[in-house]
Amino acid sequence: MTNRSLLILPGDGIGPEVMAEVRKIIAWMDARRGIAFDVSEDLVGGCAYDVHGTPLHDDTMAKALEVDAVLLGAVGGPKYDNLDFSVKPERGLLRLRKEMDLYANLRPAQCFDALADFSSLKKDIVAGLDIMIIRELTSGVYFGEPRGIFTEGNERVGVNTQRYTESEIARVARSAFEMARKRNNKVCSMEKANVMESGVLWRQVVQEVHDREYPDVELSHMYADAGAMQLTRWPKQFDVIVTDNLFGDLLSDLAAMLTGSLGMLPSASLGAPMANGRPKALYEPVHGSAPDIAGQGKANPIACILSFAMALRYSFDLGIEAARIERAVEQVLADGVRTADLMGPDGGTPVTTTQMGDRIVAALDASL
Ligand code: IPM
Ligand code: MG
Repeated sequence: MTNRSLLILPGDGIGPEVMAEVRKIIAWMDARRGIAFDVSEDLVGGCAYDVHGTPLHDDTMAKALEVDAVLLGAVGGPKYDNLDFSVKPERGLLRLRKEMDLYANLRPAQCFDALADFSSLKKDIVAGLDIMIIRELTSGVYFGEPRGIFTEGNERVGVNTQRYTESEIARVARSAFEMARKRNNKVCSMEKANVMESGVLWRQVVQEVHDREYPDVELSHMYADAGAMQLTRWPKQFDVIVTDNLFGDLLSDLAAMLTGSLGMLPSASLGAPMANGRPKALYEPVHGSAPDIAGQGKANPIACILSFAMALRYSFDLGIEAARIERAVEQVLADGVRTADLMGPDGGTPVTTTQMGDRIVAALDASL
């Protein structure tokens, strides 16, 4: 037994393939750095539904609440499109987020030098980009009640509810201000205070937390639609962006695409500290299960590997080892190693998922 426990949930589609490469990095940490983990593995998403008839078994949920960190691959696939809403693969992920109370979702959007040409924007707009989106993850319209499809008179109505309590806003605002202090000390908060009461409250509470506890951090507010526009116009104006669950879902996909490398971006979802002082935490790549390329060795394992690096930093206080992995990834990219998703218009021969993992391990060896 070590004092570091990790639950691995590879999930569906390319999840198991990219997670196999993370396993290599975990083994490397043990063998070459003397940093060992107790690793257990379980099912989530469609594969859990196939076996248990639910996308997340209660036993798996209980395990997730016990470990120091959960590492998830991806969930979903066309095979499950027609399932009832309550057992769709995505529900497994949403249940984990909700029951672990992972209210702060950290989504860095970073442009790797070697990939600046891959962005759909001009190179000078994205080169060197390094922003952090903090998305509220356990409330808002994703979970608000009432919700459902009801009958009213002679027609159906679909209902979802955007709802935020003051304490839900304040805690994610604190996460953003804390993060900003470790970065460039700037937070931009995004909502739609011009049309939504929940947005009015959001803006007020973020401002109050700022004035009371973080007056040293530079704070600005933007309507989320204008924020989307500014993100494509001049993304480097931002440092930390804090926003609600739904706007954060949209804005983080947008920001990820700016970097030209959706297959490269990790995320961390953090909750309150556990008894041992570590935050409840789940780490997952921003990309999905990519069923169209699953099982073909084409997937890019970098986002999942960088998610493990985030786990080292935020759950295990191993920032130096996290940086070692990040440098190894940068090195491999600088050497021109590319999976299929990173092939430019000039072509070239892509490496497979496994080969990419091996190259990163080799770069780690070279770092010693
Ligand atoms: C994400 C995804 C999820 C979300 C889906 C898979 C439920 O898009 O993590 O951004 O909407 O939150
Ligand atoms: Mg999304």
